[in-house]
Amino acid sequence: MVHGRFSELGSIAADNGFRQADSILFDFGISSNQVDDPERGFSFRAEGPLDMRMDPNSTLTASQIVNEYDVAELERILREYGEERWARRIAQFVVARRPLRTTRDLAQAVEAAIPRRAWPRDINVATRTFQGIRIAVNDELGEIESGLRAALSTLKPGGRMATISFHSLEDRLVKSFFNVESKDCICPPQQPVCTCGHRATLRVITRHPVRPSEAEVAANPRARSARLRVAEKLPTPDPSP
Ligand SMILES: C[S@@+](CC[C@H](N)C(=O)[O-])C[C@H]1O[C@@H](n2cnc3c(N)ncnc32)[C@H](O)[C@@H]1O
Repeated sequence: MVHGRFSELGSIAADNGFRQADSILFDFGISSNQVDDPERGFSFRAEGPLDMRMDPNSTLTASQIVNEYDVAELERILREYGEERWARRIAQFVVARRPLRTTRDLAQAVEAAIPRRAWPRDINVATRTFQGIRIAVNDELGEIESGLRAALSTLKPGGRMATISFHSLEDRLVKSFFNVESKDCICPPQQPVCTCGHRATLRVITRHPVRPSEAEVAANPRARSARLRVAEKLPTPDPSP
């Protein structure tokens, strides 16, 4: 067990004798222990500090983003990482209500910003805002990109990497990484001659993401959005084809 970041996987593996790993499993996202602890500030259901750090040693908190970022940057975070279509209005309401101190303050700002008739029926109205800010606080997408690249170089040829994603942004990153790494030439299609020199390094095992069974979702509703993808590292290509 090593306390570290996905982006440090390469050095952590090397430092612990995992130079040629047989397999690597990523279980992305947030854990129930974190969501269910109000003091971590991840949940809009319970009152807690605006924290949302997955690693309490890291510096950036949700409070800094909510209370210091300008409307444009807040809007970008909510739109890109929260996929929130009311991003601009929520950003304006958050700025107008500063200082926000608790998760409840943030949830109330979102509730005030979105007209009641436009509230989603299947998820809480603040879900996307909390997801967006959480991803920004923990640089979750940047960490996944670096982690996947580090995993590729840490795997032995024939080794497999598996990823479990919980929302579309994570799954999209994995899908495109597997897609690119399973191709030789990645030049734009209209380019007549290949100049990229790229060679495939992965073979995708799961053509479609594996979803939890009904029995699994019944036993663990939080698994409902989980998507498993697997790829195998190809033998090192012969340098002189
Ligand atoms: C879905 S939970 C894993 C749950 C665990 N597999 C279990 O069965 O209990 C994801 C975990 O990854 C951690 N995590 C998220 N981003 C990370 C990163 N960039 N580097 C290291 N750990 C990260 C989170 O703090 C969280 O504890």
